Amino acid sequence: MKGIILAGGKGTRLYPSTLAISKQLLPIYDKPMIYYPLSILMLADIREILIISTPEDIEQYKRLLGDGSQYGLKLEYEIQEKPRGLAEAFIIGENFIGEDNVCLILGDNVFYGGGITLALEEASKIQEGAMIFGYYVENPRAFGVAEINKNGDVISLEEKPQNPKSNYAVPGLYFYDNSVVSIAKSVEPSARNELEITAVNNEYLKKNKLKLIALGRGLTWLDTGTVENLNKASQFVGAIQSQHGRYVACLEEIAYNKGYITLEQLQERGELLKASDYGQYILNLYEKESERRNVR
Ligand code: DAU
Repeated sequence: MKGIILAGGKGTRLYPSTLAISKQLLPIYDKPMIYYPLSILMLADIREILIISTPEDIEQYKRLLGDGSQYGLKLEYEIQEKPRGLAEAFIIGENFIGEDNVCLILGDNVFYGGGITLALEEASKIQEGAMIFGYYVENPRAFGVAEINKNGDVISLEEKPQNPKSNYAVPGLYFYDNSVVSIAKSVEPSARNELEITAVNNEYLKKNKLKLIALGRGLTWLDTGTVENLNKASQFVGAIQSQHGRYVACLEEIAYNKGYITLEQLQERGELLKASDYGQYILNLYEKESERRNVR
């Protein structure tokens, strides 16, 4: 399974903060926004990842994340000339995807909490069809909305409906089989002139090949596209980290725990970043791990 992070768009709802910087590079609490979706792909055991952004912003992503080897990943980059819709990711990423299945995550979506790893493990096993998620929200009008029957099957999907048929928003995390590339090529632009991800999901639904995992209450999903939500997300991450003493989306920690990088690489990253609390956290992990190994 390959992964794509879509980190383009203009971020107009965050103007003026995003006039000169890509939204997904803004910090959520203590690290760039893109760390959060990247951590989710890593937790799903996806190591070959394509990052898509605008012609103006792509170089900064390369500067931030490089070839990904510091996290034991293989990162590639592509440009989206204009924000023509989420489904364009599969057209831009066609060569990268090749014959594989693919997971798309939006660069401004944050997931945290109990059950996420299990949900990711289940979703990344799909051989055929598509797997999306449902998350109960008070006001689903700003999202893709899934209507679900008693058995948990999806009955309908609508993009930003005026009169939502349920409270289940569809977060920006999607798993597909390889046919997503040809489906994305076949969908027509919507009224707002975008290739909608909901149109792609509706094609799978028509073929009876769409599954939905309902995310439980223990899990938090935040779309950080507005000033209010961005601040909420920062406060949330800050509160979790100080309460637990464990970091949300520390890429080096995930990489080390998954065996993608060595103890020496963990130390190198800690040294590089040691002027910040994030770097100190990594050095702390390194010291604990070294002790643990010596005791054995
Ligand atoms: O966050 C989940 C929602 O994301 C879903 O529930 C909706 O079904 C889905 O359409 C999408 O809705 P948004 O209104 O949040 O999409 P938005 O246009 O804000 O784009 C989401 C992110 O993707 C944003 O960070 C910018 C980036 N993007 C967007 C478009 C349209 C791109 O990189 N390229 C694009 O062409």
